[in-house]
Order: sequence, then C-alpha cells, then structure tokens
Amino acid sequence: MAIKHFLQFSDFTLDEFEYVIDRTRLIKRKFKNYEPHHTLLDRTLVMVFEKNSTRTRLSFEAGMHQMGGAAIYLNTRDSQLGRGEPVEDAAQVMSRMCDIIMVRTFGQDIIDRFAAFSRVPVVNGLTNEHHPCQVLADVYTYIEHRGSIAGRKVAWIGDANNMLYSWLQAAQVFGFHLHVSTPRGYDIDPALVAPGNSNYTVFASPSDACGGVDLVTTDVWTSMGFEEENSARVKAFDGWIVDEAKMARAQPDALFMHCLPAHRGEEVSAGVIDGPQSVVWDEAENRLHVQKALLEYLLLGRL
Ligand code: CP
Ligand code: NVA
Repeated sequence: MAIKHFLQFSDFTLDEFEYVIDRTRLIKRKFKNYEPHHTLLDRTLVMVFEKNSTRTRLSFEAGMHQMGGAAIYLNTRDSQLGRGEPVEDAAQVMSRMCDIIMVRTFGQDIIDRFAAFSRVPVVNGLTNEHHPCQVLADVYTYIEHRGSIAGRKVAWIGDANNMLYSWLQAAQVFGFHLHVSTPRGYDIDPALVAPGNSNYTVFASPSDACGGVDLVTTDVWTSMGFEEENSARVKAFDGWIVDEAKMARAQPDALFMHCLPAHRGEEVSAGVIDGPQSVVWDEAENRLHVQKALLEYLLLGRL
C-alpha cells in the first residue's frame, strides 16, 4: 500500500479532514481532562528543522509524548544535512529508524524528494511554498468558534507566502471563498495554485478585501529565508496592516487569526491581535491537538 504523506494541504480529501477534525475534538477533550491517550506507544517521530521554530517543534514534540511515543529533534546545524548529505540518503536512513518524519525546510522540492525516498509518512512542518499543519489548525479553530467554514468568506491580507498557498488549497477542499490582497510585486504565483481553483478573488485594496468577511488573517511581511528583502518589503507593504479600521469592514463577529510569530505595528496592530476578535492563542494551542490527530491518522488510519 502507498505510504500516506501530508506534504501539502491538498494531499487529503474533505472526508479525511472531517475524520481528523472529529478525532481532534476527542483528543483535545481527553487532554483537557488529563485522560491518557497513548495510541502511539513506542512510536518515534523524527523532526528535521532547517529553519527556526517554537510552535511547530513544541506541538509535535509534546504531542508525541502525550500519545506515548517519542520525538527526536534534528537540525541542519549539527546533523549531517548541514554538511551536504543528500536528502535522498537522509530519508532512507531516518525512515529505517523511526515511524514518521516531520520536515521544516526551504523549497517544496526538498520535502518532495525526501518523501519519495522515505519508507514512512512525511509531514510538512513548513516549506517556502506551504504550511499545511498551520492551516489545518486554523480551519479547526474557525470551526470550533463558529461552526462549518463551508460557504464562509476569509480575507488574506499581506504576502503571497506559504500560509496563503495552504489557505488557497483549504478554500478549495472545504468550499469557502478567500479574498486575497497582496501589495503590487508580491502577487500570487499562478504556478502554485491548482488550475481549477475558483475559490478566491484578488483585491487591489486590503480594506476592500476585508469587506463582509467572516475571518481576517495575515502573516509576517518577511518569511524565513527572505530576510535580505526585509527593508524593501517594509516599504512595499505599507498600508497592508490589519488594524481596527480594516476589521470594521468585516462582519461584526469576524475572527482574526495569525499563525505567529507576529510583529505588532507591522502586519497587525496591537489592538487587533490583542483585541476581542483575535483567536491567535487558541489557534496556536490547536496546533497540538490537530497534529496529534494527524500523526495518529497517518500511522494508524481510521480507528
Ligand atoms: N506558526 C508556526 O509555525 O510557528 P513556529 O515557526 O514557531 O513553529
Ligand atoms: N510565513 C512565515 C510563517 C512562520 C510560521 C514564514 O515562513 O516564516
């Protein structure tokens, strides 16, 4: 049987996400009640980080411990990956010693090559092009607060980055509509959008993109790996801050999300991220719960 990976959001069907979301509810409830949930006893996750992380590392590592398994952290700095060992070789070795692998790296081609040589499931913990685990947590958080996301409107304000491409895939899978506003010169790369995806509309004005939406979301202007572009980006993104005026264009009960880490005063005002519509702490916590369900599904299938 083919190994199931989670390399981008579109790797799962709606039916699979619905199962994972149901399972997340159970896993989260048990966690809150201090009930053991040791479905991954003796299983080992290897986490390969080529970029920094707080939430992703913590949620995967804590999640494996909570399910009775173990997690091992490797990074480029002190593993042989940083000294040029081919990813194909690393994948073959790691996948003989552990049960599942999470990779955070640069180009999507790297994780695709890694997965092609892995005997075990590979999970994308962020690449330049995709961040599917975060968007899974975000969709779960929306559903937890407001019910079904199908038919809803979501505004993406800011960079055409990994988070946006995962949101675009999620819109197609879950049947919601994305309003996208990126500054000129930082537009969507059509090569990264599925040809049949009609679940989004591009807006020149970020304020207009927020009009009537149920959820407003943004992210840093400069993603990891693009640091040398930072000063040009700060100029180009002027006006793309999610502030109280933009939130006022959305539905009165609209939520605000940000995958974190955030820069108050750049992509979001302190008043919005720390205000009553913001669910960023639930969003961060839900990384733990959805990823436990995801790891369990990839390793054990439907229980
Ligand atoms: N949101 C997110 O992936 O955070 P980290 O970079 O801290 O893992
Ligand atoms: N777009 C950001 C997300 C960080 C979690 C980055 O890639 O740096």
